[in-house]
Amino acid sequence: MHIELQNIHKSFGTVHANAGISLEIREGTIQGLLGENGAGKTTLAKILSGYQRMDSGNILIDHKPVSFGSPAEAIRAGIGMLHQDALDIPALDVLDNFMLGSDTSLFLSPRQAKLKLLDLCQRFGFALDPNTSVNKLTVGERQQLEIVRLLALGVRVMILDEPTTGISSPQKVLLFRTLHRLASEGISIIFVSHKLDEIEQLCSEVTVLRQGTVAGSVQSPFSTSELVMLMFGQQFSVSPRPGITLGEPLLELDDAAVSSYRLNVAHMNLSVRAGEVIGLAGLEGSGQQMLMRACAGITPLAHGKISIHNHDLTNRPYQEFLQLGVSFVPAARLEEGLLPGMTLKEHFALLNGSEFVINWRQAEEIAQRQISEYNVVGTPDTLVQSLSGGNQQRALLAMLRPELRLLILEHPTRGLDIGSSRWIWEHLLKRREQGTAILFTSTDLDELVEYSDRIVVFSSGIMSAPVDARQVSSESLGYMIGGKST
Ligand SMILES: Nc1ncnc2c1ncn2[C@@H]1O[C@H](COP(=O)(O)OP(=O)(O)O)[C@@H](O)[C@H]1O
Ligand SMILES: [Mg+2]
Repeated sequence: MHIELQNIHKSFGTVHANAGISLEIREGTIQGLLGENGAGKTTLAKILSGYQRMDSGNILIDHKPVSFGSPAEAIRAGIGMLHQDALDIPALDVLDNFMLGSDTSLFLSPRQAKLKLLDLCQRFGFALDPNTSVNKLTVGERQQLEIVRLLALGVRVMILDEPTTGISSPQKVLLFRTLHRLASEGISIIFVSHKLDEIEQLCSEVTVLRQGTVAGSVQSPFSTSELVMLMFGQQFSVSPRPGITLGEPLLELDDAAVSSYRLNVAHMNLSVRAGEVIGLAGLEGSGQQMLMRACAGITPLAHGKISIHNHDLTNRPYQEFLQLGVSFVPAARLEEGLLPGMTLKEHFALLNGSEFVINWRQAEEIAQRQISEYNVVGTPDTLVQSLSGGNQQRALLAMLRPELRLLILEHPTRGLDIGSSRWIWEHLLKRREQGTAILFTSTDLDELVEYSDRIVVFSSGIMSAPVDARQVSSESLGYMIGGKST
């Protein structure tokens, strides 16, 4: 199936989300749609899949104009989309869900549907149990179910909007293999992402959107710098990290152990010096979160010792960690770091006011200053939940005290576009130059290798000895995370 989009326009109020987009998708190709957050990718994907109406423009399938009033109409025409956000799925089992949308008598019986489901799963190596409840599936498994469901409905064009968000790395490998396979069977894939490495790995052609327009289309092999240039309209130089002299020992973990109801992590030994950056690698839930919480004074040790700046803090209250200059920035920014329903000004007032007197004028001034220094798109009266992810993250950083000894960050750049991520790291590296030690987790192997001095790898509650980040590649790190030595 050949698809052509001509001059697509869509506005939301004053935002021109799609401002005249034209694009062609050839049969059996994996076409990337790349752009930073807000570029207009999801809007375009929704228009093409019938979830949203365009203001003007044309969609042609095999050179004939079509228009869709609903996703079901788009699917009937052969175009289906997997969503960026996990859909609110009712508590159906896998088989019921698979049969959803087959309003035509596609399946004569549940038995037939089940055979079809199992057959498709087997073809693609998906292990979906037809009788499990859908809300027990992981994000990656829901995605697999969506893929086979759309295939059973006969789609010839599949749109995936940021499909790797929230799935594990083996699931990602399987997803990419599946997409290649679908393309080789003549199905066209539109792969929406803001991640360069994914586009480079997967796509044969990519169209880059910038501020609602097409910045350019290129064929693989891609040049990363060209893609970056198209995405942002500017070049980022890869700044070589200035070598810095590490300071005095700052954090000492001596045979520390932490337990939770699902995991015990024992024998943690680590000595971190002022200005040092330690990357914590591992699959989600392998123990790195527990190390961070122990170092932040949130979770007590079950065994061993922790000291910070030569003070023994073993099982001391959280406030003492704060007083010694420890700060923790959790991944769940809104749930744990910022207070929904409160404005930026109110946050700064809480941070700086005494317990009983709030100086609103001062809070306003500080908020204003920090907003401009940290590039937060908002005003002192903006509610924190209405900020975008990158802006929330910058606002959190703006709220950290200027002098910190130890800064602990959980996934500091997760979900952010390249521009925001770089901004965050420039800021963090400046702090390190002033002697702040940094502990951070990431699932992005390149980020771990690029910014850490040393990396520790967690695997099922076991912490490795630290390795020198200059001596590992992201590939060898991947092996270690998977529990293999290189
Ligand atoms: N339903 C909506 N209402 C108002 N503004 C929207 C809506 N959907 C998208 N936008 C705005 O349109 C622009 C493009 O958004 P989107 O298509 O989601 O971009 P992307 O997927 O590339 O991040 C953004 O400025 C976004 O805030
Ligand atoms: Mg989007």
